[in-house]
Amino acid sequence: MTQPIIPIVFDPQRLRASTLYSAAKLSFKALPPLALYIHFPWCVKKCPYCDFNSHQVQSSFDEIHYVDCLLQELESHLPRIWGRAVSSIFMGGGTPSLFSGAAIDRLIQGLRARLVILPEAEITLEANPNSADKAHFQRYREAGVNRLSIGVQSFNAAHLESLGRAHTMDEAVAAVHHARRYFDRVNADIMYALPNQSLAAALADIEIALDLGVTHLSAYQLTLEPNTPFFAHPPNLPDDDTSMDMQEAIEARLARAGFMHYETSAFALPDQHSRHNVNYWQFGDYLGIGAGAHSKITSHDGIVRMMSHKSPKAYLEAASKQRSFTQTEHAITAEALPGEFMMNALRLIDGFDTQLFYERTSLSWVDIEPMVQKAIDQGLLCYDARQSPIMRPSPQGARFLNTLLTLFL
Ligand SMILES: C[S@@+](CC[C@H](N)C(=O)[O-])C[C@H]1O[C@@H](n2cnc3c(N)ncnc32)[C@H](O)[C@@H]1O
Ligand code: SF4
Repeated sequence: MTQPIIPIVFDPQRLRASTLYSAAKLSFKALPPLALYIHFPWCVKKCPYCDFNSHQVQSSFDEIHYVDCLLQELESHLPRIWGRAVSSIFMGGGTPSLFSGAAIDRLIQGLRARLVILPEAEITLEANPNSADKAHFQRYREAGVNRLSIGVQSFNAAHLESLGRAHTMDEAVAAVHHARRYFDRVNADIMYALPNQSLAAALADIEIALDLGVTHLSAYQLTLEPNTPFFAHPPNLPDDDTSMDMQEAIEARLARAGFMHYETSAFALPDQHSRHNVNYWQFGDYLGIGAGAHSKITSHDGIVRMMSHKSPKAYLEAASKQRSFTQTEHAITAEALPGEFMMNALRLIDGFDTQLFYERTSLSWVDIEPMVQKAIDQGLLCYDARQSPIMRPSPQGARFLNTLLTLFL
C-alpha cells in the first residue's frame, strides 16, 4: 500500500467553524511515531486500471533534479517535525524503480543529513518487474533500502496482457528471484479477480509467489476506479461469489504457508509485516514529500493533513520558483477523528487497544461508545476485555468493512 485512504476534505465554511472547535478540544500529551513517505510520480506506461498519481514518462526526466526537489521540500517541512525521529521510510509510486541506484543513494544520504532516522528503520522501495528496473536492485540495497515491494500483479501472460502491464511473466519471476538475492524482506503485490480469471489461475499466482520465497504478500481484489479506462469500458470480471471464493482460497493457502493475515489485504511471515503500513493503520503520523504526497502531522493541539502539488509540473515549478510545495492543508476536526481513526485501525485483523484511540485522537472512548455498541449489536465488532488488543472487527465486520465504517463516519 502506497498511502492510506484519505477521507473527503470538508467544505471551507464548515472547515473554518470546525477547525476552531477542534483546536479548542484536541490536546496531545505525546506524539505518535513518525514515518516518511516519498512519492515518485512517473511510470513507463499508465496501466488502464490505475488511479494512483502516476504519469507516463514522456521522454526522459532529470532524476537528480527530482531528488534535489524532494530534499528541498523536506527542508521546508522540517520545522513541523523538529526533534522527532523517523521510524520508517517508504518510496512509492508511480514507479520509484525507474530511478537509478545512484539517485536513490543521493536521496537516502540527503535524508540522513537532514533527519534523525532510527537505526532499525524499515526502508522500503516499490519496484516494477521490468528488466531495466531489476538491474538497480543491488545498488538500492547498498544505498540502504532494506525491503523491496514488487508490483507483480500476476505471473500469467494472458492476465498481464489484459491488465496492460509493461512487463512479461518471465520478467515478473526474474524480478522476484533477483530481489531475494539482495533482500531478506520482499513483498509481492498480486491482484485477483482479474478479467476472465479462474479460481485456479488466481491460486497459481499465489503458488508462484510462495515458490519464489516472498516474505510478505499483498493480495488486492481488482477494483474499477473512476476516471480509469477500465471504469469507462469495464472488462469481464469474475462475479462477486467467485471473487469471494478467490479471496477465501488465497487466505487459506497463505495460512497453510505460515503467513499471518494481519490487515485486509496484507499477509506476512512472522516479523515480516510492513512496519510502515502498520503505522498508517495505527493512525501514526507521516510526512509525505513528492508530487501529490499526503501528510498527517500531530502537534500538541491538533492534527493537520497536507498534500503536495499533485501534478509533477506544478511540483517542479514550485521548487524552481521557491514557492510552497503544499497544494492543500487542513486541520482534522474532532468530529471527523473517530471516523478517520476507524478507517485505518479497523483494517487490522487483530484490532487495537482502546488506549490507542485515546493516544492518537486525544478523544475519550466514551465519546464513541454509542457507535461501538451499535457495531457490536450488529455483529460487526468484537470487544473482549480479557484480551489485548481488545477491539477488533468480527469476521463479518472484516468482510463488510465499509458497512462497519459507515457507523463511525
Ligand atoms: C502504487 S500501486 C503500483 C506499484 C507499481 N507501480 C506497480 O504497478 O507495480 C501499488 C499496488 O496497488 C495495486 N493496485 C493498483 N490499482 C489497483 C486497482 N484498481 N485495484 C486493486 N489494486 C490496485 C497494485 O497491486 C499495485 O501494485
Ligand atoms: S505501473 Fe503501477 S503506478 Fe504506474 S500506472 Fe501501472 S499500476 Fe499505476
